Amino acid sequence: MKRTKTSKAWMKEHVNDFFVKQAKKEGYRSRAAYKLMEIAERDHLFKPGMTVVDLGAAPGGWSQVAAEKLMGKGRAVAVDILEMAPISGVTFIQGDFREASVLAELKEQLKDLPVDLVICDMSPNITGIGIIDQTRGMHLAELALEFCTERLNSGGNFLVKVFQGSGFDEFFRAMRATFDRVVTRKPLASRGRSSEIYLLGLGKRD
Ligand SMILES: C[S@@+](CC[C@H](N)C(=O)[O-])C[C@H]1O[C@@H](n2cnc3c(N)ncnc32)[C@H](O)[C@@H]1O
Repeated sequence: MKRTKTSKAWMKEHVNDFFVKQAKKEGYRSRAAYKLMEIAERDHLFKPGMTVVDLGAAPGGWSQVAAEKLMGKGRAVAVDILEMAPISGVTFIQGDFREASVLAELKEQLKDLPVDLVICDMSPNITGIGIIDQTRGMHLAELALEFCTERLNSGGNFLVKVFQGSGFDEFFRAMRATFDRVVTRKPLASRGRSSEIYLLGLGKRD
C-alpha cells in the first residue's frame, strides 16, 4: 500500500507486515509472539521455574515465548481447539476450553502445582456479526478468569485479550475484584485490530 496521507490503514498494514516478516525471520509461529514479548518485558511476567498456562495457544507463538522465558525450568501447559505442533517444554492439550472435560484434563496435568501465570489469547471464530463475536469473546475471557479464580496462585498474574465493547466494563470490574492491580496494554504488534486490548491482572488476591 502506498503511503499517501498519514493514513491509519497504511500504518496498520505496515505494522502487521513488519511483525509477520519478523516472525518468519526469527522462527516464531505467529506475529502474536511479539505482543507477549513486549508486555512480558515491560511487566516482568516470566521467571524460570514458574508454572504457566497458555489458553488459546495455537499456532504457538505465545507458547514459544513462554518456553524460552522458562529456560527449561518450570512448567508450561497450553490449550487450544486446534492442533498445535509440539514445542519443547510445553505440554499441549487439544480441546475446547469451554468443555468440562478439557478443564478437567488441564487440572489433571497441573496436579497440585501452583499456577503463577495464566496467559489467554483466545478469540472465537469470527462470524462478522458484532454482538455475537463480542459476546463469545467476552465469554472466553470470563471462563479464563474463572479458571484463575480457582487455580491461580495467590499473588499470580493473568494476561488476557479482550475486545472493547459490550461486557468490557463488567469484565474489567471483575478483574479489579480479583487482582491487586489491573492495567491495560496495547502492544505495537496489536495495533491493527482496533478493538483488541490486553488486560493484565497483577497480584491475585487471596
Ligand atoms: C489469536 S489465536 C492465538 C494465537 C497464539 N497466542 C499465538 O501466539 O500463536 C486464538 C486462538 O484461540 C483458540 N480458541 C478459540 N476458542 C477456543 C476455545 N473455546 N478453546 C480453546 N481454544 C480456543 C483458537 O483456536 C485460536 O487458535
